[in-house]
Amino acid sequence: MQNNMTQSNFYELCNDVAEAIQEAVSGLIGKPEAGVTLRIGADGTPTEKIDEVAENAALRVLEADGRSMRFVSEELGERIIGKKPEFTFVIDPVDGTFNAVNNIPFFCVPVAIGSSDLSDIRYGYVKNLVNGDIYTAEKGKGAFCNRRKIHVSSVSELSLLSVISYNHRPHAIPINNHNVRRVRVFGCAALELCYIASGIFDAFIDMRSMLRVTDIAASKLIVEEAGGIVTDGQGNRLSTLLDVTKRVNMVASNGLVHDKLLELV
Ligand code: IPD
Ligand code: CA
Repeated sequence: MQNNMTQSNFYELCNDVAEAIQEAVSGLIGKPEAGVTLRIGADGTPTEKIDEVAENAALRVLEADGRSMRFVSEELGERIIGKKPEFTFVIDPVDGTFNAVNNIPFFCVPVAIGSSDLSDIRYGYVKNLVNGDIYTAEKGKGAFCNRRKIHVSSVSELSLLSVISYNHRPHAIPINNHNVRRVRVFGCAALELCYIASGIFDAFIDMRSMLRVTDIAASKLIVEEAGGIVTDGQGNRLSTLLDVTKRVNMVASNGLVHDKLLELV
């Protein structure tokens, strides 16, 4: 695949898509019809009405854009737009669908630009659809929130200090034996990871083998560019094809508490 685009091109493309999605779903937030299941999507989970409306809005923008790309998205799986793809555009049209349908104000649009694998993402963009915050990162060039540089927290001990976002069966991992200060579950992995990048959370754990590349591709780069570490439960860097049927486990942190978390999981 060729690489003719600059960071500002990526920003504009991602932002145009996120704005189109935001407008398309605005009348559906908190509405029961938003959560009607239409079918099982390419990722193997239900496609709800809000997911389809969002994905179609993204496709309309990308098809009108004129550039050729490989489109990888949670509901339809994969589509080649144009004749000679220059990059892979990985999107979860709505991350935090349950939150959006139930008017829980924590959901977003994550977009990653890459080639074929989670390990070669070169641009990440996440828009919080509730407050409009935009997180971005370009490989090797740092991470930003609303164009201001962000960095992970400097907490180095689990005991008493860490705030951990935790997707797992309650008590499956003995986190509270370590006197972790707070444990939270927010239901929107892409945004929870951006909170690590901003230094709000110290870590995020999801060991259910449920996360998809569409949920995490953008935010993984944002966390890493903010100084954090993202691995699987064994401490290996994540490497998975950009394919919506793949599932990963994830331990993400500010880096300083990472080894201690790996001992727990
Ligand atoms: C969900 C969110 C959530 C995670 C779920 C995902 P969706 O994505 O990322 O944080 O715990 O496993 O399904 O379905 O709202 O796009
Ligand atoms: Ca989704």
